[in-house]
Amino acid sequence: MTPAAAEFITPLTLQALSGNPVHTDLLDHAAEAAMGHIELARWADAVIIAPATANFIARLSNGLADDLLSTLCLATAAPLLVAPAMNRQMWQNPATRENIVRLEARGVTLLGPASGAQACGEMGPGRLIDPEELVQAIVSAGRTNRLAGVSVLVSAGPTREFIDPVRYISNRSSGRMGYAMAKAAEEAGAAVTLVSGPVSLTPPARVSVIDITSSGQMHSEILDAAATCDIFISSAAVADYRTREAAPNKMKKKDSEPVLHLEKTPDILAEVAALPNAPFTVGFAAETENLHDNAKQKLKSKNLDMIAANRVGDGLGFDVEENALEVFWPGGTQSLGTAPKENLARQLMEIIVARYREKTAEQSHEPAETEVSD
Ligand code: PMT
Repeated sequence: MTPAAAEFITPLTLQALSGNPVHTDLLDHAAEAAMGHIELARWADAVIIAPATANFIARLSNGLADDLLSTLCLATAAPLLVAPAMNRQMWQNPATRENIVRLEARGVTLLGPASGAQACGEMGPGRLIDPEELVQAIVSAGRTNRLAGVSVLVSAGPTREFIDPVRYISNRSSGRMGYAMAKAAEEAGAAVTLVSGPVSLTPPARVSVIDITSSGQMHSEILDAAATCDIFISSAAVADYRTREAAPNKMKKKDSEPVLHLEKTPDILAEVAALPNAPFTVGFAAETENLHDNAKQKLKSKNLDMIAANRVGDGLGFDVEENALEVFWPGGTQSLGTAPKENLARQLMEIIVARYREKTAEQSHEPAETEVSD
């Protein structure tokens, strides 16, 4: 407990309710002999700060170590999870925003905050998420080694197909779903490469990022990397059409209406799935109608191992925080209900891991090809 926390409830209350010792002091002589701050930092599997005030978030982002909690956060190698709780203005203040961006760039996981009625009487973002949600987020934020030694390639974001040097055809993908998939794969212990279209997101920690702009660039980067990866997850919203030729100079406004000649872009996902040693290949399907039928048709026609279909619109899919998925694979299906994209990505990653393992086990039991001699 920080001194501020101890102003709200006493350490004794928390100790009695939790049945666990409560640590408050950086240099508590009795505690140092038994479990000092470095021991505490080493002992923890995860460090969760809930509720995290604007003040503590600022101190954490600056690496202060002037009380037990801040010192512990610096000294631990365990994952750090922060559940903010503060007034909405404090949450939206640029100083807090900057601190959050810095923490996330360092791999700190943010749990919430929720939006709604606040203790100060205002309405807005900054509420501590509900205890059940907190526990769920902590459990699913737990790092695993389920994909240790496995390399995962993820595509994310939109592509831009240039018409002339200043104009392009693109779409509303923010990259959030793909970045969440890359993060979930990294948390599962995989070596992750993320090929990203133009987005304004901070890449997840410990993920190598290749930035691209057009579908042509995404095509060549993905095909290069796919040759040596074990799992490919195609979350990018790749343009289906591009201009046959981009004008070398900015097109002048004329009286006549211009005509754009478009050509099909290569289907990156289908090409990867058709490689001789294809990785476990997972597609996404963005649908406004006939979600199930269209997704199943894409699963089959592109010869995929799995497809995650999202209905786009009504606050889901493109450029929003939340999503819902219908996941299909040959012989199976599972629905993942509406949730923040990071939570959904972890759930989808669980399904991918299970199916990937089944497939690799099946392949290792296949009889080796017999040599034919003439
Ligand atoms: O980025 P966000 O704002 O978080 O939004 C997430 C999302 C809605 C973009 C994402 O969840 C999603 O659905 N991504 C796939 C979007 C898409 O292009 O769907 P599609 O049904 O048109 O394509 C099917 C699959 O083929 C996709 O895996 C796509 O990456 C792939 N494809 C498509 C065209 C192309 N030329 N090459 C491809 O590889």
